[in-house]
Amino acid sequence: MKYDFDTIVERKHTHSTKWLKFSDPNIIPMWIADMDFACPKEITDPMHERVDQGIFGYTDTPDELTQILKDRIKLRSGWDIEEDWVVWIPGAVVALNLACRTALAPGEIVVTPSPIYAPFDDASENMSRGMVKNFLVDNKGRMELDFEATEELLSKDTKMLFFCNPHNPGGTVFNEEEIQQLVDICDKHNVIICSDEIHCDLILQDELKHFHLASLNDYAEQNSITILGPCKTFNLAGFPLFGIPYFPHSDFIIIIFLFVSSNHLIQLSNSFKILFLSTSTSSLSRILSTHFLTIDKYPDNQTAISARSSDQEFLFIILF
Ligand SMILES: Cc1ncc(COP(=O)(O)O)c(C=O)c1O
Repeated sequence: MKYDFDTIVERKHTHSTKWLKFSDPNIIPMWIADMDFACPKEITDPMHERVDQGIFGYTDTPDELTQILKDRIKLRSGWDIEEDWVVWIPGAVVALNLACRTALAPGEIVVTPSPIYAPFDDASENMSRGMVKNFLVDNKGRMELDFEATEELLSKDTKMLFFCNPHNPGGTVFNEEEIQQLVDICDKHNVIICSDEIHCDLILQDELKHFHLASLNDYAEQNSITILGPCKTFNLAGFPLFGIPYFPHSDFIIIIFLFVSSNHLIQLSNSFKILFLSTSTSSLSRILSTHFLTIDKYPDNQTAISARSSDQEFLFIILF
């Protein structure tokens, strides 16, 4: 199929964030990861079909969707994921916030690379968690991790490390050796890694290949959250379709939100089933994006998660 990269599409009248930022027509707005190419017909045709049907009611996640994702990841990178690792949520930024809220208790700290796409910095603050910056070093134009400095930042309260690969900004594609070094440090200090890999399909240099951090070894598999999504690859940023965090199977506080829309059950990890005392699943999506979730740890090691949505529908969830 031939794709059209030549047609100029006028977007200002569509409230485009990118094009409304600067009023000066001489400024080319290259400040946001959002392209001006129309999506291919493979994407727009099914969308047209749905629009023409004219009904936009509640929908379930199609059963085959996770299988398609699994097959795609396997085909592209060889990483064999399990379907029950996958959680569908509306956006990678939501996942960053959720990771801070769930992997860190109040008073705990995330190590965040710097410079970084701004919502990484905001997530810990949004969730009232601590953050220390881990400054990347410029090695002849390639932004790299300073492993010694990274390790020095890890303290008993540092429980999570944000990783962005390919990195934004700078575009560094971290190689397997670098990922190994990072994971080894996190393993040594028992730190969870939240790895945003939403740009992984957009590596254009033939000699570079994306390596999924979670596929490295058992520690990485069991102690990381991988965020993936279609918005960068297919230029779908305006559709808050999904980010895909992978919360590991360890006994750490893990939240796998898996909607069972009719009876409001949430499944936590493989072993927990939690009654969701709520009126609707849409309130859960609102919570995910408005961050009204709280987690409390009690002295006897029990953990309670409670949540309240913006319209005061009360939710209460207990982990056993
Ligand atoms: C590294 C990174 N993560 C996440 C996002 C935003 O993802 P989403 O729109 O799914 O929240 C961006 C957008 O540019 C990004 O660069």
